[in-house]
Amino acid sequence: MVQPMTSIILTPLFIFFLFSSLATATTYNVVTLGAKGDGTSDSTDAFLSAWRAACGSKVPATIYVPLGKFLLGRTVFSGGDECKNTAIHIQIDGTLLAPSDYKVIGSSYNWIAFEDVTGVSIYGNGTIDGQGTGLWACKDSGKSCPQGATALEFSDSNNIFIGGLTIVDSQMFHIVINYCNNVQVHGVTVLAPGGSPNTDGIHVAESSVVTILNSNIATGDDCISIGPGTTNLWIQHINCGPGHGISIGSLGWDTNEKGVHNVTVTTATFTGTQNGVRIKTWARPSNGFVNGVLFQHLTMVDVSNPIIIDQNYCPGSHDCPNKVSGVKISNVTYQDIHGSSATEIAMDFDCSSKYPCSGIILEDVTLEGSTKPAQSSCTNARGTNLGVVVPSSCL
Ligand SMILES: *[C@@H]1O[C@H](CO)[C@@H](O)[C@H](O)[C@H]1NC(C)=O
Ligand SMILES: *[C@@H]1O[C@H](CO)[C@@H](O)[C@H](O)[C@H]1NC(C)=O
Ligand SMILES: *[C@@H]1O[C@H](CO)[C@@H](O)[C@H](O)[C@H]1NC(C)=O
Repeated sequence: MVQPMTSIILTPLFIFFLFSSLATATTYNVVTLGAKGDGTSDSTDAFLSAWRAACGSKVPATIYVPLGKFLLGRTVFSGGDECKNTAIHIQIDGTLLAPSDYKVIGSSYNWIAFEDVTGVSIYGNGTIDGQGTGLWACKDSGKSCPQGATALEFSDSNNIFIGGLTIVDSQMFHIVINYCNNVQVHGVTVLAPGGSPNTDGIHVAESSVVTILNSNIATGDDCISIGPGTTNLWIQHINCGPGHGISIGSLGWDTNEKGVHNVTVTTATFTGTQNGVRIKTWARPSNGFVNGVLFQHLTMVDVSNPIIIDQNYCPGSHDCPNKVSGVKISNVTYQDIHGSSATEIAMDFDCSSKYPCSGIILEDVTLEGSTKPAQSSCTNARGTNLGVVVPSSCL
């Protein structure tokens, strides 16, 4: 199931990045700048020195992280006025290690953050290890714990490439892409135990033109989650599981919210996940929307909810009981989806009573029950069936 590494090497963008860095290479090795790959010495300052040097370079710059375990505290790579270089490559062969005491970074939103940068690629065969075990145990014990940090976050950034890396055991989400434009994520591996809380693989929100390709994601929460304001998102060749599947949402928490438009998920396998492809909205008033989604060429292996729209999401005692979702869901196509459902309801369209789902298309969908015959369930859902649809559609 592991995708060949050549898939990242051969992408045109990757070749472009490599080529541009080789053409006029200037390389900053973090070890030369004082980092120690012994797993215990704090290397944060050396990494930030390398970043400042790369930012000051007039030619494309590579920051090189050799083999070794480099302990980093919270590390923010800032762009904007502090970084004029728009061709910075960070090649990681070694491991970036978060502090083993979860309290050191646990109250920060993120551990390794890129803010307001342009033209950054971060790639290699190395590992980013969030060492989340301690925080998950704290959360499991019911004590009061910090929320936890995202392992790797890009925010307010453009022209970003993330390739080949393995991201493991984040305290919270593994990769977050927030307020970005033009982001390529190729050939990454995300690994965390199936029971680890809130460890989403890749979260995209408020971003446009994001491509996620050839990646293996196994976590305790969504493999990929898609938040408000996401447009032109392309997801292809993904292995997901364990985890909660690929989810648009939760949406509609805010009354005023940007919509999700033009999302494609094509060629993906879900193995033993809680959901396959899901759209989830809070049962609260909102002006949000989801329009133009294509779920295509998907394989479901023992997935609890292979196809699901849930517009009545209202966990805990939030301000939603007895309210209805304002999020308008339209133009969602499910095409060539096969496999097995671990529950009786293989297709569940539970839409808003105020704004029924419209333009749902089911085309060549066959989902067998793993144990009992499968069924479909529709509430306030309208659409069309094409080709063979099993179990018989309720649209
Ligand atoms: C990753 O490892 C493979 C095999 O050792 C090597 O060919 C490739 O160049 C490496 N890629 C990067 C980006 O370091
Ligand atoms: C949808 O997004 C894809 C990229 O994911 C883009 O190629 C395509 O042009 C977009 N379509 C529309 C109608 O915006
Ligand atoms: C459905 O969504 C696709 C992709 O965004 C778009 O190209 C198409 O125009 C939409 N169709 C309708 C009827 O909204």
